[in-house]
Amino acid sequence: MANQALNLHALAGASRPAATVLAITSGKGGVGKTNIAANLAVCLAAANRRVLLLDADLSLGNLDLVLDIHSKYNISHVISGRKSMEEIVQAGPKGLRVVCGASGLDRLADISEGEQHRLMEHLCQLQQETDTILIDTAAGISRSVVGFCLAADRVLVVTTPEATAMADSYGMIKVLVRKGYGGPISLVVNMARSAAEGKQTYQRMAHVAQRFLQTNVYYAGTLLKDERLCAAVRSRTPVVLAYPKSEISTSLAAIAARVAGTRPRGGVDDSFFRRVIRWLN
Ligand SMILES: Nc1ncnc2c1ncn2[C@@H]1O[C@H](COP(=O)(O)OP(=O)(O)O)[C@@H](O)[C@H]1O
Ligand SMILES: [Mg+2]
Repeated sequence: MANQALNLHALAGASRPAATVLAITSGKGGVGKTNIAANLAVCLAAANRRVLLLDADLSLGNLDLVLDIHSKYNISHVISGRKSMEEIVQAGPKGLRVVCGASGLDRLADISEGEQHRLMEHLCQLQQETDTILIDTAAGISRSVVGFCLAADRVLVVTTPEATAMADSYGMIKVLVRKGYGGPISLVVNMARSAAEGKQTYQRMAHVAQRFLQTNVYYAGTLLKDERLCAAVRSRTPVVLAYPKSEISTSLAAIAARVAGTRPRGGVDDSFFRRVIRWLN
């Protein structure tokens, strides 16, 4: 089964402690995945988690822009066998480690299952010195995007309140369920105009997933539309570092705490949340 073949824990072997793998995905592009991935990773790293952030966009990865990282090598060099994962890992803020995605120049078509397996094996080698691996996927429901999600312990689906984004996010959830994904699926509503709009968007998605897919979708949180995030992107600094006291930063910290518990099905990891909030203040 493809799902099992790509499972990091199975690759690592039962005796080795495995990092928790979290995939961030959406269906539609431009909904905020990359920014959310970068900021959650910084929050986790700031709370002393050993975090590896992987830009799994195989054509237009842009985590390097959001984090202002300049890397000569990227994931395409690992896939082609020219470099090991260890050789291309870059240092990000707060001790975060980052693997950059393929740039326009090195753009890859969808990778084969074998190549994806090799990539997972490389990731696996970094597992022992890592607590959390965050995977920022490309948009769409291509085989490689779905493969990264199936390999994760938990999937964070990002949507906005727009009908098109919701439809595409639902499409992604449907594919994961049909492929037999067994981990929890959580939803982040980004660019909401109010907390109420965010909650309502979540409730609609959760209702439809329950009714038509018989699947629980958990609530990860709402992020409001905020000009500070755009300003942070322009200055190539994650918003939690550029505006640590802003509401959006506090919301991102809360989402980090909610999704990073060692037991994915558990509630908020309180002590961890307090550490992140202490750091933001
Ligand atoms: N909460 C937000 N408030 C305002 N603008 C946002 C917000 N989230 C994302 N954006 C805007 O959307 C753009 C695309 O975000 P990005 O993280 O690259 O999306 P994706 O990875 O899903 O394609 C960002 O550059 C930013 O301008
Ligand atoms: Mg992106």
